[in-house]
Amino acid sequence: MITCSKERAPKEEVFDLLVRSGLFGGVTLPLDAEKIGRAFDGSNLVITARNCDGLLVGVCRALSDFERYCFVATLAVAPEFKRRGIGRMLLAAAHEAAGGATKVVLLLHSTPEATGFYERIGMKREVNCFSLNNIS
Ligand SMILES: CC(C)(COP(=O)(O)OP(=O)(O)OC[C@H]1O[C@@H](n2cnc3c(N)ncnc32)[C@H](O)[C@@H]1OP(=O)(O)O)[C@@H](O)C(=O)NCCC(=O)NCCS
Repeated sequence: MITCSKERAPKEEVFDLLVRSGLFGGVTLPLDAEKIGRAFDGSNLVITARNCDGLLVGVCRALSDFERYCFVATLAVAPEFKRRGIGRMLLAAAHEAAGGATKVVLLLHSTPEATGFYERIGMKREVNCFSLNNIS
């Protein structure tokens, strides 16, 4: 059984999960638990998924105004727990915590590897989405 909660897991545990999930596959920037911890601390909505043994199996980090928008910044599932509905569950829990699907728009930027997942769970590909990204 998987349980989602608003728990903020220790940064080392979260960093380990993110690395193992493959999320940083194409990232060349230096990343460490401190940086990830600051990013999570600066986010006002975090959903954590654990199994019945208390093992961290997934995490979702988002920024929301709890009125109109919820921007998902991180979504990751432990490799041995993928394809069991946890990613879908985490996004649904974040959406609900942000105010619910009839009130709040969920937005995110997908990694190339995850586009099939977002399509599969019924999210719409947007065309009028812009960014300023000078990070090398
Ligand atoms: C993307 C990710 C979060 C999906 O989590 P997950 O728990 O494996 O996904 P779920 O089990 O909830 O999948 C829901 C559905 O999408 C499908 N799916 C999952 N990953 C998929 C993928 N990469 N491509 C196509 N379909 C996918 C599942 O088979 C399932 O289909 P079903 O409704 O027929 O059962 C996970 O693979 C992950 O952590 N990836 C690495 C990090 C990453 O890229 N995160 C996204 C950042 S934008």
